Amino acid sequence: MRIAFLGPPGAGKGTQARDLAQEWGVLHLATGDMLREEVAAGTPLGREAKSYMDQGALVPDDVIIRMMGERLGRADAGRGFILDGFPRTIAQAEALAKLLKDLGQTLDTVVYFDVSEPELLRRLTGRRVCRACGHSYHLTSNPPKRAGVCDACGGELYQRDDDTEATVRRRLEVYQRQTAPLLDYYRQRNMLTTVSGEGPLATIRGAIRAAAGAIR
Ligand code: AP5
Repeated sequence: MRIAFLGPPGAGKGTQARDLAQEWGVLHLATGDMLREEVAAGTPLGREAKSYMDQGALVPDDVIIRMMGERLGRADAGRGFILDGFPRTIAQAEALAKLLKDLGQTLDTVVYFDVSEPELLRRLTGRRVCRACGHSYHLTSNPPKRAGVCDACGGELYQRDDDTEATVRRRLEVYQRQTAPLLDYYRQRNMLTTVSGEGPLATIRGAIRAAAGAIR
């Protein structure tokens, strides 16, 4: 199973990928999470990425492609993966195809999460994330049992620096300009399945399972 989740910020890619990767026994490779780990560790890559992330801009393609080339080349990636937040530009999609070809693999399918812009804004400005395990909550639609505390592991919940309204608006503009062209790119290659990203989590998960089932 080699699948990519494509969609705007806040579409629910991470929420669904975390659960489905566990269910399918594959890796969940989220470029945003990988970059935030580099930022937290203060590595040179993290220092370079932070300035772009804080502004809601994309990190340069060469940095991302190098990072993912290294990650996909590791032995554990051979058991399959869900890509979450990658590729995000045509150049990244082309680099991914080449990386996989060199590994004797192909991408099975791309699932696009369709969500309206007002809903994306509502979700992102109300999102809170666990510092310890990465689990996502929403202040009103998916609140933790105890305010500020993760139900899953007891970790502290925080608001991502790029989840303020002004930065979210910028991320949505960047998505339209740089990432949305990937919809046509994958549609032309018969690799795109669209699911509605609105509604109960279990319904959306069922639609993704059906899209994945078609290629299993
Ligand atoms: P990244 O971390 O990838 O952020 P993103 O794509 O903007 O995606 P999000 O994590 O914001 O949204 P999501 O779709 O995962 O939604 P989630 O499940 O959390 O990237 C951050 C930055 O890193 C980028 O801006 C860029 O700078 C850099 N970067 C990363 N990858 C890059 C790349 N490939 N190239 C260049 N730069 C890159 O859900 C959101 C909220 O909604 C949560 O609160 C959740 O509880 C809630 N929710 C989810 N589903 C539902 C539902 N069905 N109903 C109601 N609420 C829901």
